[in-house]
Amino acid sequence: MNANRKPLVAANWKMNNSVAEALALVEEIKRQAAEIKGIEIVLCPPFTALPAVSNAISGTNLDLGAQNMHWEKAGAFTGEISAAMLRELYCHYVILGHSERRTLFGETDASVNGKVKTALASSLRPIVCVGETHAQRQAGKTESVVSVQVREGLNDIGADQLAAVVIAYEPVWAIGTGKTATPRQAQEVQAFIRKLLEEMAGARLAQSVRIIYGGSVTPDNARELFREPDIDGALVGGASLNAESFLAIVKSTG
Ligand code: PGA
Repeated sequence: MNANRKPLVAANWKMNNSVAEALALVEEIKRQAAEIKGIEIVLCPPFTALPAVSNAISGTNLDLGAQNMHWEKAGAFTGEISAAMLRELYCHYVILGHSERRTLFGETDASVNGKVKTALASSLRPIVCVGETHAQRQAGKTESVVSVQVREGLNDIGADQLAAVVIAYEPVWAIGTGKTATPRQAQEVQAFIRKLLEEMAGARLAQSVRIIYGGSVTPDNARELFREPDIDGALVGGASLNAESFLAIVKSTG
């Protein structure tokens, strides 16, 4: 953590929770989060639960994010959701380029770049996910893989707009596996990402962008991760489906 950057912890519920389940979980999170200050807490439910969750967190210290969106404004894109539709529900964040979307649904750095541009043009803050597979790490390619994802995903975006971007470093081998990156492994890559941002848009911008870590974050490993200078928060999957463990992670930022 670095005192100049506000910590951000986001809950990625993935394809979990009916509307009723989402509301029950939000009530519990709301109650436990009421006293927390100085941290951005973002809930990213599935699309179907966005209206109910948006309503339930109105006026609280919780913010809303979506898990994906399309790069076009509107039109014949069956099954897709636009940035304006998300804004209408008071979404302020959107997760883009999650490794599950890249691996299972064919997302590329080019499509991520299109989505980032549309999100920014619609005043949505993108949480852009990058990270290497186990095989890529074994082959010593972590930096080159992450470098391409960051440069192409954020291609042609001005420094003023980059300030609104959050980058989530999520090593693919750590997602949903219980195998968290060590604080040192995560810090190494996140410092590298900050250096890339500096090359792309200058030191000042690079120092202001939040870079969060994702991949099997739990209440047991969060505090150690957050001690690293370039880890500004977390993108939490499994452990965000339970209010107690999610809030324990949120509180570990302090
Ligand atoms: P996990 O998922 O915490 O269950 O590993 C993180 C993510 O995919 O964003």
